[in-house]
Amino acid sequence: MSHPFPPVLIEKLKTAQRVAVLTGAGVSAESGVPTFREAQTGLWAQYDPQELATPRAFRQNPKLVWEWYAWRRQLAAKAEPNPGHLALAEMGKRVPHFTLITQNVDGLHPRAGSRHVVALHGDITRTKCFADGRPVAVWPETDQIPPRCPRCDGLLRPDVVWFGEGLPPDALGTAVSAARSCDLFFSIGTSALVQPAASLPIEALNSGAFVVEINLNETPLTPHIHLLLKGASGVILPKLIQAVWA
Ligand code: OAD
Repeated sequence: MSHPFPPVLIEKLKTAQRVAVLTGAGVSAESGVPTFREAQTGLWAQYDPQELATPRAFRQNPKLVWEWYAWRRQLAAKAEPNPGHLALAEMGKRVPHFTLITQNVDGLHPRAGSRHVVALHGDITRTKCFADGRPVAVWPETDQIPPRCPRCDGLLRPDVVWFGEGLPPDALGTAVSAARSCDLFFSIGTSALVQPAASLPIEALNSGAFVVEINLNETPLTPHIHLLLKGASGVILPKLIQAVWA
């Protein structure tokens, strides 16, 4: 599929001083990292991610939740950034003020070379204590799953944001101000369903930005935006970079 981009988009990206990008699981799909709301396959297919990613699920079955994240961590570690991640890292070098906001916890944006990524939902490679929320970098080797906090003996959990939990306030503040001050906003590979991330493109629209969505499918955001580029981010983004800065 070729992408003759509308001239207005080329012009806007060429001249924008401030660009903000929100990414979701779709951007990592082409790296083999499963998304949240699409059919799961393999070992964990019988579980609904939305029912595992909650404090309640962890309280009820900490071993199950820890092991699910261990599986996701191992998938992320084995995955490689795809052309979509690389194109966003390139965009970050070209635009004077660029903010990359992600809901992904897989660390693939920094591995692709993006700097200062705003990780709204945390980072799967980090661990914290379920009891007091403080980061834990190392703990004694144990057969116990999950392992225990060396400070207070609380259960350890991944340092990610679960449903029903607040986002890191600094990350959210940076994301909202980038959305409110940008000339151009991209919502890429996200179902635009999970708040507060889903409100960022709306903030951008309300502040007068040109808002573009890149997705395989339409989402609840689509009727509100200026332009939908329908297709895979790993195909569209490199072509866009090429079209604007070749
Ligand atoms: P979802 O799994 O809900 O949505 C993935 C989106 O990416 C869908 O809209 C797909 O159509 C689209 N998509 C899939 N492959 C694509 C591709 N190659 N190129 C472009 N688009 C593609 O994931 P998110 O919207 O990221 O939160 O989910 C948001 C949050 O909900 C996650 O961060 C997680 C989740 O539950 C927490 O864990 C708190």
